Amino acid sequence: MSSQKIKIFAIAGSTRKNSSNFKILKYISEKINPQFEIEIFEEIDQLPHFNPDLDQEIPPQKVTEFRNKIIQADGILICTPEYVFSLPGTLKNAFEWCVSSTVFSGKNTGLITASASGEMGHEQLLLIMKTVEAKLNNDAQLLIQGIRGKIDDEGKITNPDTEKALESFIANFGNQFLNEL
Ligand SMILES: Cc1cc2nc3c(=O)[nH]c(=O)nc-3n(C[C@H](O)[C@H](O)[C@H](O)COP(=O)(O)O)c2cc1C
Repeated sequence: MSSQKIKIFAIAGSTRKNSSNFKILKYISEKINPQFEIEIFEEIDQLPHFNPDLDQEIPPQKVTEFRNKIIQADGILICTPEYVFSLPGTLKNAFEWCVSSTVFSGKNTGLITASASGEMGHEQLLLIMKTVEAKLNNDAQLLIQGIRGKIDDEGKITNPDTEKALESFIANFGNQFLNEL
């Protein structure tokens, strides 16, 4: 087996300093098999507002950098809250910059919605990721409701069922890659 790490590019849908979604991505990066290397994107709020006029052969620099991170990754992990029954605008904006490209096509992609409720946001996230042809697996999708009461300031999961659900998410997400080796 190759000693090269499996590279995962992780995107949080919340830009809040104490974001539960960001903390979940950190939690996963610490718990996942050391064969994986997870880079958590911290510049989503630096992408310009999507404008089709700017989505030309040479798009804005930050967009090129973002797309390259996706292209270079072996897999993608998205963890987001629901805002106003939908995706946070910042995350939707990032996806809009990718629709004209094929950067997500065929990439193993894990989806987590961690929110107060989150059902509609989760459905929309799934639809968007199908649209950009990400490779999806039912076992690597998770909706965590009432998240603020299930994770503490240090990022420790304080709810045993959520801890178990994340544990199986991590295993299922990882197995997709390991089964392909
Ligand atoms: C502008 C705004 C709108 C929100 N709308 C929803 C919503 O429609 N559904 C929901 O489940 N939670 C909603 N929430 C609550 C978020 O789920 C909650 O703040 C969550 O912890 C945010 O994730 P974070 O901790 O990663 O920032 C909203 C929060 C904000 C700030």
